[in-house]
Amino acid sequence: MTTYLAVFGATGNLTYKKLLPALAQLQALGQLPESTRILCVARSPHTTESYLSAAREQVKERIDWPRLSTILEYFPMDFASPEAYRRLAARMADEPQALRLFYLAVAPELFPVIAGGISGASLVKKGDPTGRIVFEKPFGVDLASAQSINRMLWNYFDESQIYRVDHYLGKEMIQNILVMRFANRLFEDAWNHTAIEKVTIVAKETEGVLNRGGYYDAVGALKDMVQSHLLQMAALVAMEVPATFDDDGIRAKKVEVLSHLRFDPHHTVTAQYDGYLREKNVDPASTTETFVFLRAFVDTPRWRGVPFDFITGKKLDRKRSEIIIDFKDNSERSRLWPDLDVVKNRLVVSVSPDEGVSFRLNVKTPGLTDAFLPQEMEYCHDCRYVGNRPEAYERILLDLIRGQSALFTRWDEIETAWRIVDEVKDHAVRPFVYNDFDTLKNITNARLQEEVL
Ligand code: BG6
Repeated sequence: MTTYLAVFGATGNLTYKKLLPALAQLQALGQLPESTRILCVARSPHTTESYLSAAREQVKERIDWPRLSTILEYFPMDFASPEAYRRLAARMADEPQALRLFYLAVAPELFPVIAGGISGASLVKKGDPTGRIVFEKPFGVDLASAQSINRMLWNYFDESQIYRVDHYLGKEMIQNILVMRFANRLFEDAWNHTAIEKVTIVAKETEGVLNRGGYYDAVGALKDMVQSHLLQMAALVAMEVPATFDDDGIRAKKVEVLSHLRFDPHHTVTAQYDGYLREKNVDPASTTETFVFLRAFVDTPRWRGVPFDFITGKKLDRKRSEIIIDFKDNSERSRLWPDLDVVKNRLVVSVSPDEGVSFRLNVKTPGLTDAFLPQEMEYCHDCRYVGNRPEAYERILLDLIRGQSALFTRWDEIETAWRIVDEVKDHAVRPFVYNDFDTLKNITNARLQEEVL
């Protein structure tokens, strides 16, 4: 059976930076179905040959281009022309049972046009599992716009045919959260408010907005990162044990977390990096935040009173995404060793760029002393790969082909996440300006009157 993967936006950044390298890697690993055809769809009048040479200029990774070109062809079309979709349908018509996957790596304004075109030419029939459509964020800019995009999609497709990408879910260590939680007795038993003091979800970046000023200025850190990646991480950390370890079992439990998440407006700080207003396509009077600190609580018996802190921003001290679980002081410790300095246990799941886990515990200092020494037990996940480690997009594309949707976000997850973010936005105040991480840290800590950064 042929698998057609049509990538709309084939001359865009996402295709060059992520999709083509991921597809080439899947091909090299023998993971693509035997008769896969990749149709690279865009408006530019390329031939397959000229497209491939343009792609070679753009793609940084080493790819086996001759091999990739055996399964790839370029398909020029005007996204607004119904006739073009009929041509596309004719191109895919040789096998009625073929799997047809449509990846929309395009600006969100084009979602309705392309979704309508695909449905209009019966390229995907509503309810037919052999047709799937994939979207990248942003999925709306607030709850109302997301609902309207979704209504449009549900006109044409069933929810089971819609794959909404959150690339964080494709990351190795994000998938590791549930394994660590549910396959290790130690953590399973301690994963609650009795043992855990605080959860911190971090995604810091050193870069500014680069060439995405136009997009970013309309959204800001809260909508760009918290609404999607950070809330997804929190949902995996906080969810209850799923009844079944499958797509809907997991996603149902994640939605439960999101719908019990209550943010604390008194513990929110937003800031904007110095120089942001001079970035290309940014409004010189913009009040868009490029940093946000947000505290929330998950109102379930498991998490009663445990703060979930979210920290994300651009132009910060380092590129680092991680989940930090701070445990409470051991109840017997102060009775047994009232005078000794000990640290509290801390579990850190490093998501990127390093991948791994570290766990801080107290041990006795070696030698003739009773003092304690904090020690980190480290597991380096990426050290275990020889050669390339799977990139998020390899896993995402593979799951799309296999029809596994646990690593894609279901509509109710998106909807609940927007409710939270819209509420935070309603309380937003003008961001303060930071020119380095230390200023940001000091002002944030002073505003919150505690050390959080
Ligand atoms: C994207 C955001 O979703 O994630 C970007 O739109 C951000 O602004 C990026 O830079 C971060 O992803 P990663 O994988 O580099 O942490």
